Amino acid sequence: MMSIPPPSQPLGNRILLVTGAGQGLGRAAALAFAAAGATVVLLGRTVSKLEAVYDDIVRAGGPQPAILPADLAAAQDKDYDALAHTIASQLGGLDGILHCANAFAGLSPLTLQSIEQWMTQFRVNTVAPFAINRACAPLLKGSADASVILVGETHGHAPAAYWGGFAVSKAALEAYFRIQADEWSDLPNVRINLVIPGPIRSPLRARTHPAEHRDALPSPESLCPLFVQLMGPEGRDTRGQVLSFRP
Ligand SMILES: NC(=O)c1ccc[n+]([C@@H]2O[C@H](COP(=O)([O-])OP(=O)(O)OC[C@H]3O[C@@H](n4cnc5c(N)ncnc54)[C@H](OP(=O)(O)O)[C@@H]3O)[C@@H](O)[C@H]2O)c1
Repeated sequence: MMSIPPPSQPLGNRILLVTGAGQGLGRAAALAFAAAGATVVLLGRTVSKLEAVYDDIVRAGGPQPAILPADLAAAQDKDYDALAHTIASQLGGLDGILHCANAFAGLSPLTLQSIEQWMTQFRVNTVAPFAINRACAPLLKGSADASVILVGETHGHAPAAYWGGFAVSKAALEAYFRIQADEWSDLPNVRINLVIPGPIRSPLRARTHPAEHRDALPSPESLCPLFVQLMGPEGRDTRGQVLSFRP
């Protein structure tokens, strides 16, 4: 029988997948989820970064995580099915997904953007969340309380010059979110929400705003209480919401 986790471990007994777990928001969230008692599946492209997060979790006394290397820019249907199969066979279930993996090709006028750049951003930022959710849906439906969090971006909501294919991929993510939230609206045990962070001091931000004074920016850890809340019992009534922190 599943035990009730203590208040300090609101995510105890939960198995959570975090994409883009090697750095930035994904890394901070993975550490926060583990500190809150979750067994975290760390998905990302660079194994050495995932191993470093794995070590940090174990060193802090968190539940032993799992590492799932994947290149979401190249993944096909069968790879997403294999990912869900691996989670099911190795961990026995899944209670939530935080989608933090992100491809950003740089700021430039549309005349200088290539189809390849657009496709990579679309595959990582839009297709991967859809395909991971689709492959993992049977596991999520088998959970007592499953929570999926998508992470949007200000320019997906308010596109502007030079944000090109990145902004379009994030706008498409919002459209996907509306459809998925609608399709899951009759599932009492599966919820999905979209978080649009404001500026966060991450490696991505250093690329989008290289001239900015970084020390003044909120840390990736500043968003973690919200992510923990949305993943756990406190977030149970938050579903189909866009939680926007854009300036
Ligand atoms: N930082 C901000 O100010 C800010 C503001 C608004 C919204 N956001 C959103 O928040 C989310 C997280 O942002 P972040 O700042 O943490 O981003 P980040 O620092 O760029 O980290 C992105 C992560 O995605 C992984 N990734 C990239 N391409 C991948 C691929 N092909 N396959 C698998 N993993 C891949 C990276 O892994 P590798 O390191 O191994 O390449 C990295 O761990 C994004 O959706 C972003 O749009 C961020």
